[in-house]
Amino acid sequence: MTAPAAEQDPASRWWRDGVVYQVYPRSFADSNGDGVGDLPGLIDHLDHLAGAADSLGVDAIWLSPIYPSPMLDGGYDVTDYTAVDPVFGTLADLDRLIEECHRRRIRVILDLVMNHTSNLHPWFLQSRQSTTGPFADFYLWRDPSGWDGDGRPEPPNNWLSWFGGSAWEWEPRRQQFYLHTFLPEQPDVNWRCTALRAEMWSMVRGWLDRGVDGFRLDVFNAFLKAAEMPSNPEIAAGGSIPWDSQEHRYDKDQPELHDLLAEFRRIVDSRPGTMTVGELFTSGIDAAVAYWAPRHLVFDWVLLETAWTAASFRAAIAAREAAWSGRWPAIVLSNHDRSRHVSRYLDTLGRHDRATADALAKAAATIELTLRGTPFLYYGEEIGATDIAVPRSRARDRAAVRMADWWNRDGCRAPMAWTADATAGFTSGRPWLPLPSDAASRNVEQQRASERSVLAHYRRLLALRRGSTPLRTGELALVDVGDPDVLAYLRRAGDEVTLVVVRFGLRGGEIELPRAAWPWRAVLSSLGPVTPTVGSRVEVRPLEAIVLER
Ligand code: NOJ
Repeated sequence: MTAPAAEQDPASRWWRDGVVYQVYPRSFADSNGDGVGDLPGLIDHLDHLAGAADSLGVDAIWLSPIYPSPMLDGGYDVTDYTAVDPVFGTLADLDRLIEECHRRRIRVILDLVMNHTSNLHPWFLQSRQSTTGPFADFYLWRDPSGWDGDGRPEPPNNWLSWFGGSAWEWEPRRQQFYLHTFLPEQPDVNWRCTALRAEMWSMVRGWLDRGVDGFRLDVFNAFLKAAEMPSNPEIAAGGSIPWDSQEHRYDKDQPELHDLLAEFRRIVDSRPGTMTVGELFTSGIDAAVAYWAPRHLVFDWVLLETAWTAASFRAAIAAREAAWSGRWPAIVLSNHDRSRHVSRYLDTLGRHDRATADALAKAAATIELTLRGTPFLYYGEEIGATDIAVPRSRARDRAAVRMADWWNRDGCRAPMAWTADATAGFTSGRPWLPLPSDAASRNVEQQRASERSVLAHYRRLLALRRGSTPLRTGELALVDVGDPDVLAYLRRAGDEVTLVVVRFGLRGGEIELPRAAWPWRAVLSSLGPVTPTVGSRVEVRPLEAIVLER
């Protein structure tokens, strides 16, 4: 991939060479005892991330939304794009966070939720009043398609909400429906309205002026809907959720989106050293690739949806390398919407013991930090965190409560475990979600003190990656080492080659290393600080990942 001239400066290539760490602000660190994480708490823990001798060593943080919000969807329901919710702090706290991050060479990425607002946003409060006025067209209003036998209005088309039911909600005052791809309390904005667009761009410029280094774009491919809003085609054999019973031909991924993105990207690109990453909403890898541009990454969900077997990972990596050829992918194993990867992989293996969890966390981290692409770590994965169990009756995620049992996002949003204290060093009060049940023995303080911890392995991997041109930027080629349970790939940059081998199963065995580059020298093993020296063959122990150089 050839970088544009502006990207030749290494400091502006962090979108490609760096590692991003996602912070879920409610769950990271609470400074004022209200049980909810906040910006001052995050500032107090920045040394964990970068800038100190024993830091993890990441290059950027992405903050899930910190804006004022009724929090029906974890802050993805915004009432003011230009402020900070009091539960997280103030704009002054955010300024201090940006300053403290920059001092440590950590870039700050904000989450932009521009597909919808909260229904309590002042724009919507005005828009729902009447079909005239300055905000009348800020949302997607449509007349009913007709009236049923009981005189009730019928929705304009068959579009569905991702969270279940019709995507249309009736507003008696306007005698019209409004569209909500997510909760009824999250009305979709109208990107074809020039005044709305101008408001959004001015907000984006405002954050850039304030010093942020980039944005994560929430469900960006849903911004534009087909202008005429025809019904979507129904799919006879739908998937596991109602949303999958339609082909989403008209409610997302419209061709005009490319022009809209170009407008947005011009604003971002005018500021050196910035980047964006788009969150693709229920579309496949080809769509992700089509929206990509240098400095503007796009998540695909292939790796996050890959099961813990060598064959699945081989297939996923092959598919990604084919699709992303000549472009630069993002690497994600976990985020705030899905079960944490160690939990998923433990289920696959049918084991739930501590040793297996730790070995899985380290092996998975080795893949995540040595594949081609920009890794996005999810807070807590660096200590091997797993999901917490939150019964439906106590769920805090309103969106999950409204959905079927297949999705409870509270599980992956537990408070971070910093110490072995009763409240895990997360808060002096009552945490907003239960602490992880193993917080007393799985926490940052303890893992910092052990060379064999998951955290120590993450630190070693990040340091190795930072110093290795093949791992940061090299080409990737899968290799066959003659054992179906072992994933192996080469990363090559010029004459420098790195080999990664990972065993997925619980029975060890020797493999033959690729002859092209003998002799190999192991530089890192996930199963111990001491790495074996290697000849032409190497023993790969159960769940072991080894990084080798020539
Ligand atoms: C994607 C976010 O990641 C998710 O948490 C949220 O519920 C939806 N967008 C709606 O904003």
